[in-house]
Amino acid sequence: MKYEIAVLPGDGVGPEVVAEAVKVLQAIGRRSGHEFALHYGDVGGASIDKHGVSLTKDTLKMCKRCHAVLLGAVGGPKWDDPLAKVRPEDGLLELRKGLGLFANLRPVKVLPMLVDSTSLKPDVIRGVDMVVVRELTGGLYFGRPKRQWRTTRGRRAVDSMAYSEAEIERIIRAGFELARTRRKKLTSVDKANVLESSRLWRQIAIELSSQYTDVELEHQLVDACAMRLIQSPSQFDVIVTENTFGDILTDEASMLAGSLGMLPSASIAGLPQEGKRVFGLYEPIHGSSPRRAGQNMANPIATILSFAMMLRYSLGLVAQADGIEMAINNVLEDGYRTYDIMSEGLKRVGTKEMGELISSKVA
Ligand code: IPM
Ligand code: MG
Repeated sequence: MKYEIAVLPGDGVGPEVVAEAVKVLQAIGRRSGHEFALHYGDVGGASIDKHGVSLTKDTLKMCKRCHAVLLGAVGGPKWDDPLAKVRPEDGLLELRKGLGLFANLRPVKVLPMLVDSTSLKPDVIRGVDMVVVRELTGGLYFGRPKRQWRTTRGRRAVDSMAYSEAEIERIIRAGFELARTRRKKLTSVDKANVLESSRLWRQIAIELSSQYTDVELEHQLVDACAMRLIQSPSQFDVIVTENTFGDILTDEASMLAGSLGMLPSASIAGLPQEGKRVFGLYEPIHGSSPRRAGQNMANPIATILSFAMMLRYSLGLVAQADGIEMAINNVLEDGYRTYDIMSEGLKRVGTKEMGELISSKVA
């Protein structure tokens, strides 16, 4: 089978980590006989510098013609002026909206050999294995009105947390479907004691639960959830939540795994059902890390794991996805570490060496 993959390396360390995921992709291609046709495009600051906008219509069209998109990272100090007319991040938001990627899956798994590289007590984080399902195309990020203006009493600004029933239903369904393939526990996170959109969210979660009687549903308020993520993170299996809450909680949850450099993400346009194919965009959770760019330092594992998620959800190649995860475990067990997960007595390697070690294990 031939798969068309859009590759958008972006800014900072993006191109370096994407290059390593491409090595793994080529190794999988050689081994499985599947053909991957890569279509490169610009996004973020790289696109602003070349085309004056953070995402061109042609790049969006090219992504739409592919089975899936692999993205590095966007942003950097060069484009950070708060008054700038164009921002690298806008390109990412346009991709999410333009490609209908409403469900963002962010798995957080603590690997036994990395238990000591986090800032939390080993006993607290041992066994953590959760996925946050974050709504990605609604809420404060996209709600209207959204603007800033001048009044006689000074400046004002408004953002809107707006959700339709259909938007809430499909994301909570994604949470239930995913929980069904795992430990069958779904935590719906909202702020129903204050927000109207959260009250609708909670009602819909309760209504849907009658269709998923095999999954245990619980509700948590977002502030309490933020606390429990640190206090007893292993209680979570699947968390489903709206866009902004998910943005904040996933940065928090990422610290459980020791390094942002370990965490992948999938943004998909349908329900996550293993082995079925759904269009998606795959990217590491970490940003463009401009200070590390060009130094062969960045950890490519998050991007390689993101590629594994692409195989699982967009290409239906589940065995190959498992193979990549196993290869990563083996390389870590052999004691190889990038700077961000390094501890005494282990072997420090750079971005390229880590990519090559993993590719050689899958090949
Ligand atoms: C993320 C990032 C983005 C977001 C930024 C870069 C717009 O923080 O993917 O979590 O806020 O969604
Ligand atoms: Mg974020």
